Amino acid sequence: MQVKATVLQKDEVAPQVHKIRFFAPRIAKSAQPGQFVHIKCGEEQNYILRRPFSIHQANSSDSIEILFKVVGRGTSWLAKLKVKDSVDIIGPLGNGFSLKSRPGKIMLVAGGMGIAPLIFLADKLAKEHTKTYTVIGAANKELLLDYMNLKRLTRKITAATEDGSQGVKGLITDILPAAITEDHPDVIFACGPFSMLREVAFIARREDVDCQVALEELMACGVGACLACVVKTKTGFKRVCADGPVFDSREIEW
Ligand code: FES
Repeated sequence: MQVKATVLQKDEVAPQVHKIRFFAPRIAKSAQPGQFVHIKCGEEQNYILRRPFSIHQANSSDSIEILFKVVGRGTSWLAKLKVKDSVDIIGPLGNGFSLKSRPGKIMLVAGGMGIAPLIFLADKLAKEHTKTYTVIGAANKELLLDYMNLKRLTRKITAATEDGSQGVKGLITDILPAAITEDHPDVIFACGPFSMLREVAFIARREDVDCQVALEELMACGVGACLACVVKTKTGFKRVCADGPVFDSREIEW
C-alpha cells in the first residue's frame, strides 16, 4: 500500500546514522520482521527517487521505524526531514523471515547496518519467549547499533569490533563459529554486507545450522517489475524485492 506518513521522531543515533519513526498505521498493522518499505526520497514530481529500507521496528497500533546511514542523495534528503514532515511510503514489501518451523533457539547475526531488520525480529521473538542469542559486529563501539535494545531483547550478545573498542577485536565471522558451538542455535537469521553473509552461510553449512539471510540490494521499482535487484540462486535468478529479501542461505549461489 502507498501512504503519506508523518515523521513522529528523528534521532541521529551514531555519526551519520539516523533513526526515524513515522506515523503509518496501515503499514505498521501488517508489517512482518524482514520486510521493507520503499520511500520516495525527494520532492521532485518528475523524478521519483525511491530507496528501500528494512522495517526496523513496527508498533502495531500506529508507527514504523527505519534505521539508515547517510550514503548518498536519497539518504541525505531523509536525514534532513523534521518532525511533522510528510513522506510517501510504499510497504510493507517483500517476504520477511520465516518462523514456520518454530525453532527452539535462534541466533541473530548482525553486521553493521545489518541490525536494521533484526531488532523488529528480536522484539517479536522476545514477546513469544523464544530463546534468542545475538552475534553483532561493527567497525567500532559507536557503530554497534541498538546494543542496549539487544541487551533487553536477547539472552546474550557476543560482539566484535574491527578496532577492538568493544568485544573481540576482529570480524563478526571470526567469533561466529565459537558462538554457535557455545549457544547451539537451531537457526541463524543474518543481515549485513553480502561478503559477510556469504561467510556466515559457509559457517552455518559447515556447522549444520539452518540459516536465513536478509539481502540488501540496490532496487528501482521495489515490486518485482524491473529486474534491477536480481540475485543468482540454485533455481535461477530471483528478485530480491519480490522473492526476498530473505532467502534460505543454501539457496543463494554465493
Ligand atoms: Fe525492480 Fe526488484 S527492484 S524487480
